[in-house]
Amino acid sequence: MLENDPLAAFWMPFTSNRAYKTAPRQLVAAKDMHYTASDGRQVLDGTAGLWCVNAGHCRAPIAEAIGKAAATLDFAPTFQLGHPGAFDLASRVADLMPAGLDRVFFTNSGSESVDTALKIALAYHRARGEGSRTRLIGRERGYHGVGFGGMSVGGLVSNRRTFGSLLTGVDHIRHTHDLTRNAYSRGVPEHGAELADDLERLVGLHGADTIAAVIVEPMAGSTGVLLPPKAYLERLRATCTKHGILLIFDEVISAYGRLGTATAAELFGVTPDLICMAKGLTNAAVPMGAVAASRGVHDAIVEGAPAGIELFHGYTYSGHPLAAAAGLATLDLYKAEGLFERAAELAPYWEDAVHSLRGKRHVIDLRNIGLVAGIELEPRAGAPGKRAMELFHAAFDDGLLVRATADIIALSPPLIVSKPQIDEMFGKLGALLATID
Ligand SMILES: Cc1ncc(COP(=O)(O)O)c(C=O)c1O
Repeated sequence: MLENDPLAAFWMPFTSNRAYKTAPRQLVAAKDMHYTASDGRQVLDGTAGLWCVNAGHCRAPIAEAIGKAAATLDFAPTFQLGHPGAFDLASRVADLMPAGLDRVFFTNSGSESVDTALKIALAYHRARGEGSRTRLIGRERGYHGVGFGGMSVGGLVSNRRTFGSLLTGVDHIRHTHDLTRNAYSRGVPEHGAELADDLERLVGLHGADTIAAVIVEPMAGSTGVLLPPKAYLERLRATCTKHGILLIFDEVISAYGRLGTATAAELFGVTPDLICMAKGLTNAAVPMGAVAASRGVHDAIVEGAPAGIELFHGYTYSGHPLAAAAGLATLDLYKAEGLFERAAELAPYWEDAVHSLRGKRHVIDLRNIGLVAGIELEPRAGAPGKRAMELFHAAFDDGLLVRATADIIALSPPLIVSKPQIDEMFGKLGALLATID
């Protein structure tokens, strides 16, 4: 790399920097379902950016709301002060959550939402006089962002091994991915509800009185579209309730219409104690995350505390005016265009399109839920992940953005996707699979 290389300074996140910088692919504009690449080509967005641009790109009402906020109230602290947008958005978020989860703490990202939820769980037990409950339980193959808390409860070895000792007092239940029994499931897989009982094993090992919370993604996106087996989440909920353990759903990906409902909790009819969100909350136009807490969790901490700050936690940008404006405009747009319902209506068409890839070269599983697809490829011998990465590059060069995680290709388009665009996505992928070694 030359010293005057204009690409040298940006140390790119979750990227093979050396490979990227020898063959850079850049995006310079976006509108609705398409990105414009730096060479002028239109690229169909099969991934809503990074699972976040649910209403499609550069939507005018969102852009206008952000512009107006920037010119009116660029920043306002929310420590011991406030501004109307943050309160309005919190109420609107609460309206979309399952009944009872109506207290909202703002963050700036999914990672911050996860760390916030974990801290709230610890504060909750302490406030109730159960300070021995400090253990946090995650799940193998879980992804909960990159903060030390989220990394610790996460279950991806590559995100953990470089960083030495993570949080102590963390354990993991088993993941639910089981191709032997569940390959080519349409929607949630039939087998595996009993894997929720792994929590009982950890309760037996550590004692319920040491466990604060369990965190899972109801639908794991980043780790390759892993769906909850039928009745699994209900069983996890029941075990948590039985032992006084808080259940946290990490819905950073699954909230805001991705599954055809406001939340996965709503879709599955299982209500956790805390929901982490980000991404679709503002259509990704301004970074923002949030944690919705049940009234019981909130009140135990806030009502039970002596006068003064009840929870020593927060971010300079919690409830930032631009993000709040973007969030309000985004939620208006979801409602005005009925985008969650649209996703639900399109889901059967999407499912058929996903499963049309059955029998294509390298494909060993196809999974779908809402407007999400996982296409699992047989790893190339001695080179895991390479095949999917080549497909990612080939698709981009062919005008389609997909996401590669290990040997799994994930798709999660904006909810405004049309049927012909769905056909285009799977038509292209079907043809490209034949060209990849
Ligand atoms: C389930 C889940 N949690 C947390 C995160 C982290 O979010 P962020 O990258 O905004 O910190 C992600 C990101 O994809 C996610 O999928």
